[in-house]
Amino acid sequence: MARIALVPGDGIGTEVVAEARRVLELVSRRRGLELELVDWDLGAERTLRTGVTITDEEFRSLSEDHDAILLGAMGDPRIPDHRHARDILLGLRFRLDLYVNYRPNVLLSPALSPLRDMEGRPVRVEIFRENTEGIYVNMGGNLRAGTPDEIAIQEDVNSWKGVERIIRAAFEHAVARGRTRVTLVDKANAMPAAGALWRRAFGALAGEFTALHPEIQTDMAYVDAMAMDLVRRPEAYQVLVTSNLFGDILSDVAAAVTGGLGMAASANIHPGRFALFEPVHGSAPDIAGQGIANPLGAVACVALLLEYLGETEASGVVDAAIRGAVEEGSVTADLGGRLSTRQVGDRLVSILEEWL
Ligand code: NAD
Ligand code: IPM
Ligand code: MN
Repeated sequence: MARIALVPGDGIGTEVVAEARRVLELVSRRRGLELELVDWDLGAERTLRTGVTITDEEFRSLSEDHDAILLGAMGDPRIPDHRHARDILLGLRFRLDLYVNYRPNVLLSPALSPLRDMEGRPVRVEIFRENTEGIYVNMGGNLRAGTPDEIAIQEDVNSWKGVERIIRAAFEHAVARGRTRVTLVDKANAMPAAGALWRRAFGALAGEFTALHPEIQTDMAYVDAMAMDLVRRPEAYQVLVTSNLFGDILSDVAAAVTGGLGMAASANIHPGRFALFEPVHGSAPDIAGQGIANPLGAVACVALLLEYLGETEASGVVDAAIRGAVEEGSVTADLGGRLSTRQVGDRLVSILEEWL
């Protein structure tokens, strides 16, 4: 039996997690997994109500009393400084040391891409985003704030250990999944200090892994060129490994060319210890409350979660149900459909009732 913390969070997070929950409950029942789903009230409402974002005891309980977390989204216009999102979302990533942010992007049907002529161009780009350092550590500050002489410093932190472990995770994934190209993405031409460390670590691990697995090709690309190439020829790439910030940006690009943010799922993992699953999208205040958000990204997180729990077959069935819904056009407006969030959930449930 596993205990899963459900943290719907803000905006459409609550809407999409409701559908993900139904899928997870159904799989659990049909497969006899006996998952215990525990609801957590963390997010903007709670912060506005109590002034508290998340407590130390809650961090402890989330990580020690649960096997994994499924989170919707954090972000609310009423908290413009994003204090709660930083404390909760970045807090969980950093404090639980979830150093792998795995963001797969698969084109399920050529028609889903905004790009032309995608027939016969299968896209499966898996991004390994470093998730505990980089420019996200928030080291720095503002000098002479509010004056014309203001200076803002935001440091980019890259440790050898931090860089080595995310690159290793990318290579291990490539080996485990039979992927044959691993690409380091950086900005070594303009940021040579960080670039040198990343390239040295990548070179060392490329040597180590390709000695045993000569079928794996390795290369490096600048992030600006990669942003372009993900639009121009996304099918050329397989596994990308990159820093926290570049991974954040490239994962939105990769999501956009494979069906949009509504489809994209992610796993924040400390291998062997703990994991947090969340769709790549945010709380989407522009459509929140309308019941039209695409729940497929959140449901794809359920597939990633099941895989993490060792339920590989059930995970595959959930992925297949998503593909089935897409193929028959049972989708929300962002994918050109007419269904509501709830109706897509209904359809997934009826497909899964048949298949599980
Ligand atoms: P967003 O992902 O919330 O929305 C970007 C655009 O994509 C919007 O037009 C939105 O309507 C659309 N969109 C996103 N998800 C969708 C879905 N499931 N179905 C249909 N359309 C969808 O990004 P944003 O507008 O830049 O950010 C809104 C808030 O969310 C901010 O507070 C931001 O900080 C936060 N955010 C949180 C996370 C997270 O919790 N992991 C991720 C990204 C942004
Ligand atoms: C994401 C989000 C977050 C990030 C924000 C909300 C801090 O954009 O998960 O992609 O930048 O990591
Ligand atoms: Mn992002």
